[in-house]
Amino acid sequence: MSTMSMPQASSSRGLDLVGKVAVISGGSRGIGRATAFNLASRGCSILGTCTSDKGVTAISDGLSNEISSQVFEATSRERPSGLKIKGLVADIFSHDCATTLAEEIRLEFGGRVDIFVNCASDPMPGVIGEMGVEEIQHSLLGNIQTPVLIVEELVRRQYFQPNSRIIYISSIRSRQPWSMQLMYGAGKSAGESLCRTWAQAFGGKEEKVGTLITVMNTFQ
Ligand SMILES: NC(=O)c1ccc[n+]([C@@H]2O[C@H](COP(=O)([O-])OP(=O)(O)OC[C@H]3O[C@@H](n4cnc5c(N)ncnc54)[C@H](OP(=O)(O)O)[C@@H]3O)[C@@H](O)[C@H]2O)c1
Repeated sequence: MSTMSMPQASSSRGLDLVGKVAVISGGSRGIGRATAFNLASRGCSILGTCTSDKGVTAISDGLSNEISSQVFEATSRERPSGLKIKGLVADIFSHDCATTLAEEIRLEFGGRVDIFVNCASDPMPGVIGEMGVEEIQHSLLGNIQTPVLIVEELVRRQYFQPNSRIIYISSIRSRQPWSMQLMYGAGKSAGESLCRTWAQAFGGKEEKVGTLITVMNTFQ
């Protein structure tokens, strides 16, 4: 099993991730936000992506203030001075998503990524007999092309560190088919396959944790 714990109540957890940077696509709501909260409560700086200014505010102000009050003030501890929590609009359907993300990492986070959580995805189901070229391409863009381009950009810029992780938020649909979710399931299967290859290429290992957070890699 990985040394990185699953999200849990963490107000009294040690600051084992101070100085680290996590990039979380889809960090403004749901699983991505919960992951951001967990990592930030351990001292990890966060760059969370979303689709609008509302999401940016939810991360840069909402999450950041919550971390200060619920994690640090509540336990009478000082928030680490370098702990930065920022939101960024980086739409997985935009063709410059990867470079937008990488530029922000360079400008605001010192050009390092210790943890990349690929959480945002296209939920378009894909109903057999009803799909056209545009729908299929849209799904491939958000769920496969953009995640690949993000990792490509981070590798080329050498932003990953020794022991960096890529965490892919998958779905039971990658292994348990349902005819109403043809494209969604295909995208999740592809994501897991990408992680297996990244793990092999970077000299790390693939790990699966349940059916949702399924793959982690360690750079060595
Ligand atoms: N929830 C489940 O039961 C479940 C089950 C299996 C797998 N999953 C997987 O878990 C992941 C998160 O699911 P969730 O239910 O937590 O999602 P969610 O609550 O709907 O949150 C979606 C997050 O992704 C962002 N997002 C949406 N569209 C985006 C886009 N085009 N570009 C960039 N960011 C975008 C949203 O930002 P905005 O605030 O700007 O919209 C938000 O931060 C997904 O990969 C999903 O497939 C979820």
